Amino acid sequence: MRPTALITGASGGIGYEFAHLFAKAGYNLILVARSEDKLEKLRQELEGHTVTVIPHDLSEPGAAGVLFEKVQELELTVEVLVNNAGFGLNGPFDELPLIDQQKMLQVNVNALTELTHYFLEDIKAAPLYDIPKGIINVASTAAFQPGPLMAVYYASKAYVLSFTEALHEELRGTGITVSTLCPGATDTDFFKTAKAENTKLVDRTMSPQDVAKAGFLGFVKGKRVVVPGGANQSLAYATKLMPRSVAARIAHYVDKAD
Ligand SMILES: NC(=O)c1ccc[n+]([C@@H]2O[C@H](COP(=O)([O-])OP(=O)(O)OC[C@H]3O[C@@H](n4cnc5c(N)ncnc54)[C@H](OP(=O)(O)O)[C@@H]3O)[C@@H](O)[C@H]2O)c1
Repeated sequence: MRPTALITGASGGIGYEFAHLFAKAGYNLILVARSEDKLEKLRQELEGHTVTVIPHDLSEPGAAGVLFEKVQELELTVEVLVNNAGFGLNGPFDELPLIDQQKMLQVNVNALTELTHYFLEDIKAAPLYDIPKGIINVASTAAFQPGPLMAVYYASKAYVLSFTEALHEELRGTGITVSTLCPGATDTDFFKTAKAENTKLVDRTMSPQDVAKAGFLGFVKGKRVVVPGGANQSLAYATKLMPRSVAARIAHYVDKAD
């Protein structure tokens, strides 16, 4: 029997690439996002693999529980959970609508936490396969410093990093792999959604293929934190060494529209 990987945010960008990688590695797939048409197209691309599409909006309170119920109704079990769905918003904190920032926290933080809680029981109960079982949570290099003009987004990713590192330690030695992927700027629809296309964030991006591949390989190796790309790794290291006030100034400069 093949293990199943549930991937949120599989309709585009990094999640779409994760779907291809997990399919190639022999996993069955459950693909989740709001865009049913894009998920169906991806299912067609993955012909020959067992793929279940669940169109679902994770921005509503309780949405993770509803998704868990849908998976149970389909009598599917999940051996790998990839919490990849997420988005950012660029602008002064008080000028961005509160409702949009609440939805961001709902997707980036609450749904990720709740899905982890719901599916961990399945993952624990699953037998050990020759391919890993566990969780990948997608954070960001934004997790390493405060992010003026994207304050809630950076804070949400700091939560994802801290939460996932803690879980990695809790589950060490259990055969469950827990990995945090911290991409730097990646060439996806993220910047369009965040209204950050005119910022310095987009000056240097990695491809979503390379980012997902680094995340997948890091997961297979059981890595706690994966920062894709040498430049991002150097920046992350430099950020750790500098005072947080300086890191915040730099992020402010980068997040500002040109
Ligand atoms: N691109 C970057 O520079 C970058 C850097 C660091 C970290 N990240 C993180 O990487 C992850 C993937 O982002 P990406 O770069 O691949 O951006 P993307 O191309 O915009 O993909 C985001 C995915 O999340 C899904 N999503 C958004 N809101 C959702 C909701 N309410 N319910 C369910 N699914 C939802 C989207 O699908 P639908 O619209 O179809 O729902 C889409 O599949 C995110 O967590 C992001 O924060 C991105």
